[in-house]
Amino acid sequence: MEESLFGTLPDGRPVQRFILRNGVAEVELMEYGAIITRLLVPDRRGEPGDVVLGFDTLDGYLGDSPYFGAVIGRYANRIADGRFTLDGVSYQLAQNDGANHLHGGVRGFDKVLWRGTASSDDARPGVTFTYESADGEEGYPGALSVRVTYLLSAEGGLQVRYHATTTRPTIINLTQHSYFNLAASAADVLGHEIVVNASRFTPVDAGLIPTGELRSVQGTPFDFRLPATIGARIGEPDRQLELAGGYDHNFVLDRKDDASLALAARVIEPLSHRTLEVYTTEPGLQLYSGNFLDGSIVGKRGRRYAHRTGFCLETQHFPDSPNHPAFPSVVLRPDEQYQSGSVYDFGVA
Ligand code: GLA
Repeated sequence: MEESLFGTLPDGRPVQRFILRNGVAEVELMEYGAIITRLLVPDRRGEPGDVVLGFDTLDGYLGDSPYFGAVIGRYANRIADGRFTLDGVSYQLAQNDGANHLHGGVRGFDKVLWRGTASSDDARPGVTFTYESADGEEGYPGALSVRVTYLLSAEGGLQVRYHATTTRPTIINLTQHSYFNLAASAADVLGHEIVVNASRFTPVDAGLIPTGELRSVQGTPFDFRLPATIGARIGEPDRQLELAGGYDHNFVLDRKDDASLALAARVIEPLSHRTLEVYTTEPGLQLYSGNFLDGSIVGKRGRRYAHRTGFCLETQHFPDSPNHPAFPSVVLRPDEQYQSGSVYDFGVA
């Protein structure tokens, strides 16, 4: 465990960086956005490689970052027209994606300064980030106290635990928005082979808002129940792929219960043989194939992030749930505790 200054915000506030090591993997995080800035894991030959997209310095993250490595809140993904009704009161959230609300608004949790505290347990190095979100921030009701803990296990798994409480009834849906490239290269991720443990997904409209349908993946390019590469069917003439410009969809995970950490996805990169398994307590998983990356962002070591050179696996409740009563509830009340957990387990095949 190592702590140092990562940079300084324009208003003078310092941003601390934390490095977690366990002899296998190394994870670097910082207080701005509770962002994972670097994640080193070995390939089959034991060669470590940085498997997440991002920037070398704080300035990059303060610029035009598409949520690289950040914690997303208060609500991951979209809410139609930024509107929802709770207990008969209607709320208007920030509209930052056309008319829709995306990833917490104009200044979501990815763009605020969290306070980080290293944990002392050396067998499992960790850091806890806390943030107090004011009542009314980005239009959300309730003052929200949020805690996100990252823990690195001895085997190389990175655990993320989310916790929150509110002073007034509100909605919440937190996630982690790392872009992975298990080859640790500048090449696209279309050759990564993936399994997603989901028999259904939530199809979207032209604004990428779920229609409300839970559609079977059977016979569609969304069937990842058996291993397939991200690229194998991404170019097929499928209406859902066309609407999103690739994969940018919520999968309805096949779960035995709604509390335990269950395997959501498994990824193998065929050249490095690096693997990633994602476990979550959440009912959904957004597979995003980096469709909006277009080479305009210059990231770490001067590398340009071209189309689809990273993918995201965002553990979550379903997008726009407040406007779909049939979707699992995202409501948090003052007498309740929001709790969510995910594990990113790295290995070699
Ligand atoms: C999520 C969204 C995408 C996009 C990316 C970041 O995955 O669903 O539409 O906003 O984040 O660009």
